[in-house]
Formats: sequence, C-alpha cells, structure tokens
Amino acid sequence: MTENSQDVLKDAAAAAAVAGGSLFSTFDIFMLVVLLGGAIWWLWSSRKDNKKDEILLSKYSIQPAGTIQVTENSFIKKLQASGRSLVVFYGSQTGTGEEFAGRLAKEGIRYKMKGMVADPEECDMEELTKLKDIPNSLAVFCMATYGEGDPTDNAMEFYEWLKNGDPDLTGLNYAVFGLGNKTYEHYNAVAIYLDKKLEELGATRVYEVGLGDDDANIEDDFITWKDKFWPAVCEKFNIESTGEEELVRQFRLVTHAPVDIIPNSVFTGEIARLHSLQVQRPPYDAKNPFLAQIKVNRELHKGGDRSCLHVELDISESKMRYEAGDHVAVYPINDINLVEQLGKLTSANLDEVFSLINTDQESSKKHPFPCPTTYRTALSHYIEITALPRTHILRELAEYCTDEEDKKKLLLMATNSQEGKDLFQSFITEACRNIVHILEDIKSCKPPLDHICELLPRLQPRYYSISSSPKLHPDTVHITAVVVKYKTPTGRVNKGVATTWLANHKPTDGDYPRVPVFIRKSQFRLPLQTQTPIIMVGPGTGLAPFRGFLQERAHARANGKEVGDNILFFGCRHRDQDYIYKEASSALFNKWELEEYSKNGNVTLNLAFSRDQEKKVYVTHLLEQNMDQLWDIIGNRNGHFYICGDAKNMAVDVRNIILKAIQEKGGKTEAEAVQFLKKLESMKKYSADVWS
Ligand SMILES: Cc1cc2nc3c(=O)[nH]c(=O)nc-3n(C[C@H](O)[C@H](O)[C@H](O)COP(=O)(O)OP(=O)(O)OC[C@H]3O[C@@H](n4cnc5c(N)ncnc54)[C@H](O)[C@@H]3O)c2cc1C
Ligand SMILES: Cc1cc2nc3c(=O)[nH]c(=O)nc-3n(C[C@H](O)[C@H](O)[C@H](O)COP(=O)(O)O)c2cc1C
Repeated sequence: MTENSQDVLKDAAAAAAVAGGSLFSTFDIFMLVVLLGGAIWWLWSSRKDNKKDEILLSKYSIQPAGTIQVTENSFIKKLQASGRSLVVFYGSQTGTGEEFAGRLAKEGIRYKMKGMVADPEECDMEELTKLKDIPNSLAVFCMATYGEGDPTDNAMEFYEWLKNGDPDLTGLNYAVFGLGNKTYEHYNAVAIYLDKKLEELGATRVYEVGLGDDDANIEDDFITWKDKFWPAVCEKFNIESTGEEELVRQFRLVTHAPVDIIPNSVFTGEIARLHSLQVQRPPYDAKNPFLAQIKVNRELHKGGDRSCLHVELDISESKMRYEAGDHVAVYPINDINLVEQLGKLTSANLDEVFSLINTDQESSKKHPFPCPTTYRTALSHYIEITALPRTHILRELAEYCTDEEDKKKLLLMATNSQEGKDLFQSFITEACRNIVHILEDIKSCKPPLDHICELLPRLQPRYYSISSSPKLHPDTVHITAVVVKYKTPTGRVNKGVATTWLANHKPTDGDYPRVPVFIRKSQFRLPLQTQTPIIMVGPGTGLAPFRGFLQERAHARANGKEVGDNILFFGCRHRDQDYIYKEASSALFNKWELEEYSKNGNVTLNLAFSRDQEKKVYVTHLLEQNMDQLWDIIGNRNGHFYICGDAKNMAVDVRNIILKAIQEKGGKTEAEAVQFLKKLESMKKYSADVWS
C-alpha cells in the first residue's frame, strides 16, 4: 500500500467516525471490530462482489441521532495562515453558486490574488468587519435567490445578520454576483439587496453587481461579468494579470489497491455519513435522508406518449412529519447504461476504489463527494452526468484532445467570443449534449475519469410538491411526477434522472424498492380557518399540492367542520388522456379524487383541455372568464389564492390576470393593484409554488 493511500483511508475512517455521531455508538464499535476482523474474508469476497456496488437496501436499522461535527469557522485565520487575500462566499442550494465561487477563487491566481471559497454557514461572518486588516483583501459573494426573494439555506443566517444588524464594514472591498431566474417575480432579489446593503454599511464596491439569469444563459452572464470584474480588481489593487492561464486541479487523485482497502470504509451512495443508509438514524434531512419504501407506483395517464407517475413513499418508520403543501426531496441514481458508457469512453475500471483530496488544505470541503468510493458509485450516486457541461469544463476537456481540430472546437466554445458562444449554443445547449455525448462525438478527447468526476457538478436531490395530506395519509407521502424524456436534435433520447429511476422502480409481489428522501417544509399552506374560501390554479403536475389541500379540506368537512369554497382551475391536453386524478383508482388508498370531490360538493372544478377542440383553451382563459369570482374571493371574502406548476409562462400570466381582476373588478389603478397584490403576498393570501 502506498503511504498516501494509507493516510487517506485512515482519514476517511476517522471522518466517518466523527460524522457517525457522538462519537461511535456501541453498535458501531462492535461493527467496526467485527468488520476489521473480517478484512481477509472481505478481500476474497470483494473480488467476487465488487461489480455490485449497490446499497444494501434490505439491511437497515434505525438508531438515535448523533451530534454535529464542529469545524474552524474563522475565515480570517484561514486566509492569513495560507497567505490569501481573496475570499469567495456562496449562497447556493443546487450547486451553481458554489461552482461559480470555486471558479473565481481559482482564477485569483492569475491576478496574484490567492483565493479561497467559503460557505457562510460555516464561517463567522461578523469577521467581515476585520477583513480590511488583510492588505488588498477582497470578498466576493455568489448568491442565489429562492422562493419569494429569499436567500439559500446556507446564506440565511448571514442574510439575517446583515438585515438586522448594523456592523461597520468600512474598508471592506466587495463584489456580488447574483444567481436568479427572470421568470420569478423576485429576480435576483438577494444579490441586489446584498450589494446595496454592503455599500450602506460602509463597504467599498469594487465592481458592479452581476445578475445571472438561469432562464436564459447564466454561464454566459457569469463569464461576461467576470471578464469585466477582473480588470476592475486589477485597477483597484494596482495589480496586473500574469497573462498565464493556469489549469490547476483542485483535487488530487489517490487510488486504493484492493488489498489496501479497509472493509466497509468505502462509500456506496451515502450522502454524508458512512453506512447512513444501512444504519438509519433520525432526524432525517438533506445530509441524512430516509430510505423510504415505494409502496405504490402507478401510471396516471391513460393515453398519449407521455407518462405521469403517482408514487407513494412509506415514511411510517422515519418519525418524519409533513403538512399539505410541503415538498419531498428524492435522491436519484443515474442510468446504469450511461455510467457504463462513460466508463468505456474513458477506459476506466469502474470498480476501482479512489479518493479525490482537496489540494487546498484550508478548505472545509475535503472531497467533492464522499470518498473513498468506486467510480461506479461516484457516477451513479454523486455526479450529475446528464447535466449540460459549462464552458470551463470544455476548457479543461480540450487539454485531452489528440486531434487539433477537436481541441480548437472545445477551446472556441470556452471563449467569450460571439463565435464561441454561438457554437456552444448549437453544439451543447440546443443539441442537449451531456458529457457522454461530447466524448462520443469529439472522439479524440480522452480525459481521465477522475478529472471528469472533479469537474462535473454534484448530483442534486429532486423536489416534488407532496400530493397528499397527512390527515388521510399520515404514513405515506405522495408524489405526482411527469417522466422527463425527449429526443435531441442528434437523434438521442435524453431521460430525466429521477423520473426515469422512479419509472423503473415499481413494487412487485411485496418487494418494495427503496429511495433516499427527506421532507422540506414550505410556506405553501392552507388558511388556518377552514371556512376561508380558496382558489387553486394547478395545471398538469401543478395539481399536486392541491390534491393534498382537497384531501385536507374534505377530511375537515367529513369531521363536521364548516369548510369554505374550494375552487380549482386544472388544465391538461386531453380529458381522456392526461386528466390526472380524475377519479379514484382504488378505494383502498384514495377514496376520492376530483370527480368524486366535485360530485359531493368538496370542490368546484374549472377544467381546460387544451387540445380537445380546435382552439386551444388553457387555465388562464378560464381565469379570465371568471374575474368576478376571482375578485369576489380575494377582494370581498378574505380568501386565499394559490398557484402551482410552471414558473416560466403560466405563473406570470396568472399573476397578470389577477392584477387585471383587481383593477377591473376591484376598481383600482395599476399601482394600487400592484400594492394590493403585494399585501396579499405578505399576508400569505397569494402563494406560489412554482418551478421551471
Ligand atoms: C419546489 C419544486 C417542486 C416540484 N414539484 C414537482 C412535482 O410535483 N411534479 C413534478 O413532476 N416535478 C416537480 N418539480 C420538478 C422536479 O424537481 C424535477 O425537476 C423533475 O422531475 C425532473 O427531474 P429529473 O431528474 O427526472 O430530470 P433531470 O435529469 O433533472 O432533467 C430535467 C432537465 O432536462 C431538460 N429538459 C427536459 N425536457 C427537455 C426538452 N424537451 N428539451 C430539452 N431539454 C429538456 C431541462 O434542462 C430540465 O431541467 C418540482 C421542482 C421544484 C423545485
Ligand atoms: C424553486 C425555485 C425557486 C426560485 N426562486 C427564485 C426567485 O425568487 N428569484 C430568482 O431570481 N431566482 C429564483 N430561482 C432561480 C435560482 O436562483 C437559479 O436557478 C440559481 O441559478 C440557482 O443557484 P444554485 O444552484 O446555486 O442554488 C428559483 C429556482 C427554483 C428551483
């Protein structure tokens, strides 16, 4: 065994121990002793079994919760210890902001500004007042916006501190790049606020705020911004670019020979703690998901070429609670065929055990994903292999081309020139080419698999609006998911990771597949008073949370409570194909669905079947025809208005119709209508649960 590999494995075992809780339970110690003793046996059996890199889904138990690992939170100390002056903070939920922060920190070298990436959640952010003590220092913030103009979870505390406190930030040099999406009402609200607030608190803006739009091309926005940001930094600090482009790898590869591996020290798909999927311990969250059984998984569409799944996940053993309107997150697994193909294209042994170690010793992120692990596990569980690669990845891939033309093509796409942007747009974006497709089509490009693992983003959980109510289904959460599948201009069929996995995992003969999940609380809530009338607009899978709402309100009514009007606007293509939850399919699980609810007075249905007649009809048309009712409910009867589904078009159109109703039926001016709607939002009487 190499000394390096030995150290890494020892570190991994120690880290696993700490992450395991406070610190090892007796059971863990017993397990480790037994498992270490079984090393020889394992070596023999691993040769036989190492192709099956699957989670031991059937063998799991539930144990009490552990404690949290404490880390050094002084970013100033870290900067000083490593002679750095640039710190790039990120507020990120799905990894884009974190990736951009990493790229900026790395690029600092080119400007003789050694950089460090930092998660505000892990830092004492009050130290921003002291950053000026480091000569020529600069703080950059890559901040995403979510929900109703909210920060990401990891930036929440920092955001609150800035909002409520009054720190003196004189002398702090800063710049902000925002990540947002124009289809949302509060476009880049967090970055805009942060940029303004830092200035108000005395800090010096080194370059104007950049706003990235994920609806258009956020990568383009980012590189355009940083191409101007760096010259501004140079001018401010009187420094010059070295002119050299340094392609430095952030992570060092260590491969572990089979004889070196300590049994059960290799991650097999856990999100953070080793064996967390085999030995389950509440509480469950994003880092410690619950392995839920799929109790029901059936098709909701009755025809057409699309598929929509109704999935029921058993949470009875999890102690997880939910409310109608919450989200459930599902950790998906990549398509095994794509994993194999990527292994082939890179001539890698997918069963090799490896670790990627951060070369930046000050970083709190030691590995890009749980290590040691096999390439097969990394590609299946940890890496977004179907995401369309960003330009910096193409830049790195170019180095592995033996054909000059191939190299030129990749380099061109990585530049900020119009020609490069156009080529990126057609070759990557429009052709929907993921890493596998790129390596298939740019044949001389042969990157090592470990570098691909370093470059591609981490596989993210997928969120679903829970389509059930705990009043009827306390032990299960229901998902309503359209299966993503589309043909690309190159003739390939691209499939959504999570929905394809779900579609392929149906229970059979009492054998229930398991999937790691956690529940995320939302603000999308029914009114406290059951008498309050509600309007729900949810075309397609936008119906999901309203199924939960209807179950909840029907349950209240059945229990003798007075329940206000439930008015639903639902739309799909054809009544006889994709009218989901039209009627109950099984009296056992779901007693009533829409038509039964309608018949017994639990809901008033407004249905738009867009393709059932010559002229297209959408929910927005029906809303326009019902503006008197809209105003009556939100303006006169203190009701609540809800919208769920597509953020891109539908949510904006619906909002405009509401504004129109407030003006035309409520007799308000345009400005008054906007104010009125804002007030409804702040009182949670107008709520949106939308995604794009
Ligand atoms: C808060 C929230 C709630 C949600 N609730 C629901 C819900 O109730 N039901 C539901 O079905 N989904 C819901 N979603 C969406 C869901 O999280 C997933 O994004 C969706 O299921 C796709 O996941 P996937 O892994 O199957 O696809 P992925 O592997 O993530 O692929 C999806 C991506 O493929 C690309 N793509 C898809 N179609 C095409 C096309 N025709 N042409 C080109 N590119 C295309 C797009 O880039 C898209 O982002 C919700 C999302 C959020 C954020
Ligand atoms: C559920 C959801 C809500 C969002 N809300 C907003 C919003 O209110 N304003 C905005 O500008 N962008 C919004 N976005 C877009 C994200 O900010 C954008 O996609 C960003 O690139 C995500 O960065 P991250 O990957 O670092 O989390 C939202 C995205 C999702 C999925």
